[in-house]
Amino acid sequence: MDATILVNRTHRLPRKAIPQTLVEPEIIFDAPVGDRKRLLAVSAAKGVEALFARGKEEGIYLCGVSGYRSYERQEELYQKKLREQPKGNEGSVHCIAPPGASEHQTGLALDVSCQAVDYQLDERFGETREGRWLKRCAPLYGFILRYPKGKEHITGYGWEPWHIRYVTRSLALYLTLTGLTLEEYYEQK
Ligand code: DAL
Ligand code: ZN
Repeated sequence: MDATILVNRTHRLPRKAIPQTLVEPEIIFDAPVGDRKRLLAVSAAKGVEALFARGKEEGIYLCGVSGYRSYERQEELYQKKLREQPKGNEGSVHCIAPPGASEHQTGLALDVSCQAVDYQLDERFGETREGRWLKRCAPLYGFILRYPKGKEHITGYGWEPWHIRYVTRSLALYLTLTGLTLEEYYEQK
């Protein structure tokens, strides 16, 4: 899969779309050894190793929480969310992608957290020193924060300060300079 691929609710991946090569980056993970969520596409794995190493040099300790997810795994998570959702409240389903609509299926996305928020994936992470550092430095290593605050109506998802997406360094820097989401970038092309 191309590193700049657009995946969202309207641009979905087929069930059979599986990254050619998945590897385990050498980073700290809040997931057991052998868990497939520790896997990433090669380009994203290299980028995140360099990003986390740079963080460490600056006293920023980031932790991987969830990387690759198959179509089937996303289907399970989505169905679980639907079952748990209180009747009449469709809101909570907006925080999880339906199968085929998750960037995690590309192996190019990683959810990141830190000790200060107990390795949880929630908005508090965005206010931590680590979360702010991630936002500032991720583009230097080819990643964007894919679901920014204020762009929910464009991305289709709520603010996710923990979800980084590898898009190549040149595109990450371009999107950061222009303030465009991946959706807006493709609309302009
Ligand atoms: N939470 C993100 C949008 C996903 O489910 O892929
Ligand atoms: Zn994510």
